Amino acid sequence: MARIFITGSADGLGQMAARELVEQGHQVVLHARNEKRAKEALTKVPGAEAALAADLSSMEETKRLAAEVNQIGSFDAIIHNAGVYRVTGYATGAEGLPLLLAVNTIAPYILTCLIHPPKRLIYLSSGMHLSGDPSLKGLQGDQPLASYSDSKLHGLILAKAAARNWVGVYANTLDPGWVPTKMGGAGAPDNLEQGFQTQVWLAVSNEPEALVSGRYFHHQREAHYQLKADDAGVQEQFLDLCEQISGVRFPEN
Ligand SMILES: NC(=O)c1ccc[n+]([C@@H]2O[C@H](COP(=O)([O-])OP(=O)(O)OC[C@H]3O[C@@H](n4cnc5c(N)ncnc54)[C@H](OP(=O)(O)O)[C@@H]3O)[C@@H](O)[C@H]2O)c1
Repeated sequence: MARIFITGSADGLGQMAARELVEQGHQVVLHARNEKRAKEALTKVPGAEAALAADLSSMEETKRLAAEVNQIGSFDAIIHNAGVYRVTGYATGAEGLPLLLAVNTIAPYILTCLIHPPKRLIYLSSGMHLSGDPSLKGLQGDQPLASYSDSKLHGLILAKAAARNWVGVYANTLDPGWVPTKMGGAGAPDNLEQGFQTQVWLAVSNEPEALVSGRYFHHQREAHYQLKADDAGVQEQFLDLCEQISGVRFPEN
């Protein structure tokens, strides 16, 4: 039995992966944006161990969440699943960061840095990362900004950096496909079941194909990704910029 923490598991792919993992007999800790959503998550995933609450658009709440995760013990796998796609106007998080940048890029960075590394790290990216900007220009300067595509490239770069720096940790990224969740919309054409099976497989399978690091998957197969994410210089620049924004340093192994 493995113990898994999943961000954004009150709904969508996070909730589906959680339910599947519980059904397979694993211990799952859920996460939601606030206490009310955390309670709802627990009722939607019967058998889950607990549900933690933190708004990932707030760097302070995200840091507190990392401390709470560490307090409740160690994990075999963490699925960095929470994300936003459509943001109204120039919405910002508690510290004034654009919402999309805060939730999709900075929150997984902070959690990756501050939670004691599990054996497996899994990041939800998207095929849209292919049009993300590898120059990382948006993260520079006083008013950092990211498009959805940029933020999904950031997740890939973060996973690649963890895979390169942390010996003994399997860190991988996946594209779930365009699937009909709240984010994907009712008309999304891809298979919903396949949209959560890859993260479940990467979290708990002992098949040799799942025990790899620094890879990018779609439907349990390695897929084409932006090769710039393999560039150690790009990874280091990304980690430095996230440190400047969050005040949190990426730990050495
Ligand atoms: N669906 C697709 O077609 C698709 C395609 C490619 C990649 N992805 C990626 O897959 C992941 C899951 O997406 P999904 O389709 O399952 O989306 P979803 O149904 O919208 O679920 C996203 C989850 O993230 C949570 N979340 C959003 N903002 C948060 C915040 N500030 N603090 C805490 N939690 C927050 C949401 O909480 P609430 O329920 O309370 O809003 C929800 O539980 C995302 O990273 C997404 O980018 C999805």
